[in-house]
Amino acid sequence: LSHVKYVKNEFWMNPYLELEAKLDKPSVVHYICYKKTEDYFTLWLNLELLVPVAIDCWIDNMRLLYNHSTHLTEAPPGVDVRVPGFGQTYSLEYLDPSKRSVGMYYFTIVQALVDWGYTRDDDVRGAPYDWRKAPNENKEYFLRLQQMIEEMANKAGGPVVLIAHSMGNMYTLYFLNHQTQAWKDRYIKAYVSLGPPWAGVAKTLRVMATGDNNRIPVISPLKIRTQQRTAVSTVWLFPYAHTWPKDMVLVSTPNTSYTVQDYQRFFRDINYEDGWAMRQDTEPLVSALQPPGVPVHCLYGSGIPTPQGYNYTNFPDVDPTVINGDGDGTVNLLSATQCKRWMGQQKQPVNMFELPGNEHVAMLLNITTVNYIKKVLFSP
Ligand SMILES: *[C@@H]1O[C@H](CO)[C@@H](O)[C@H](O)[C@H]1NC(C)=O
Ligand SMILES: *[C@@H]1O[C@H](CO)[C@@H](O)[C@H](O)[C@H]1NC(C)=O
Ligand SMILES: *[C@@H]1O[C@H](CO)[C@@H](O)[C@H](O)[C@H]1NC(C)=O
Ligand SMILES: *[C@@H]1O[C@H](CO)[C@@H](O)[C@H](O)[C@H]1NC(C)=O
Repeated sequence: LSHVKYVKNEFWMNPYLELEAKLDKPSVVHYICYKKTEDYFTLWLNLELLVPVAIDCWIDNMRLLYNHSTHLTEAPPGVDVRVPGFGQTYSLEYLDPSKRSVGMYYFTIVQALVDWGYTRDDDVRGAPYDWRKAPNENKEYFLRLQQMIEEMANKAGGPVVLIAHSMGNMYTLYFLNHQTQAWKDRYIKAYVSLGPPWAGVAKTLRVMATGDNNRIPVISPLKIRTQQRTAVSTVWLFPYAHTWPKDMVLVSTPNTSYTVQDYQRFFRDINYEDGWAMRQDTEPLVSALQPPGVPVHCLYGSGIPTPQGYNYTNFPDVDPTVINGDGDGTVNLLSATQCKRWMGQQKQPVNMFELPGNEHVAMLLNITTVNYIKKVLFSP
């Protein structure tokens, strides 16, 4: 595929983990789309499915349908989506498992652990989840995570170090907030938080309004928007009023502007009112930023231009002008540094470690990050 080479260096796209799908659909949106498959195939990330025409099939499989009475989402009829590799590492070492060059993710960290004597899928394990959804729709996941941690700690004869990146931190905080202190004291040695969006991310407003092709020119933002809007987790990551300045303009258009206080109007104006319902469902999940109650190491990139606002001349369908602030290119610095509020709120230590010049995904490949993790693992 001609665009893959281009994508290679630019491909700092949302570091979302692998999803697989199996189809037995009553109907398809285009004659080239598969209606039925014998087995599961990689739905995300698979660049071959994102080319023109094929992308229509992909959107129709990837989107979620929001049910207003249950406040839950479901896959379209005949689409079975699963998250492969729970308890293993392969699905999080690379973003596209078929093209190892395209997006290295946790590989550097996992390989370093192996070099220090750890074994993949044994004492270093992954816990991928369906990232389209927020924790309220992933209850079973948290039970499996709890069981896996207990199993690993029992086998190792000591507590476990958790490492999370990006939205995985929101998941980890939700998880820890739902465990007893006794459980955390027994099973968790430390929590290394990489690029955490504690107060949300301004980029999400553009994703919802216009769609975001992550600078991959073959993908039309308006097309991918159809799918992106239905991912509840995007709305969950809208900036939070507990941290964002109330008068800071996130989006401005020729006749109005939107701040953290204007989401209901924002969703009405972009003609996606489901978004407002999803926000109300998910906003309380971790918005209290209740301390995790374990030793925390908060590592965050800075010094990379990071969208903090958008100016539109044609709202919402035409790409806006981006107003950048500080951060890691994805997570605003203001959001990532909120770990500091836990200093003094919990008796366990909270360490802040800035990684100047580190991009959101690149920080996972940086030797400074790897060395920091080693220090945490091998400390008494
Ligand atoms: C929403 O969920 C309810 C309860 O499961 C179900 O009866 C209803 O048909 C669903 N609505 C849609 C539009 O799927
Ligand atoms: C903003 O202006 C555009 C065109 O100038 C118009 O179509 C739209 O309805 C206006 N929106 C609001 C919220 O007034
Ligand atoms: C964005 O719009 C605001 C007001 O609408 C204006 O003050 C600001 O200069 C604009 N910024 C850019 C970079 O266009
Ligand atoms: C790794 O991170 C350090 C600390 O932020 C930074 O100085 C260095 O330039 C980074 N290295 C690379 C290769 O990005």
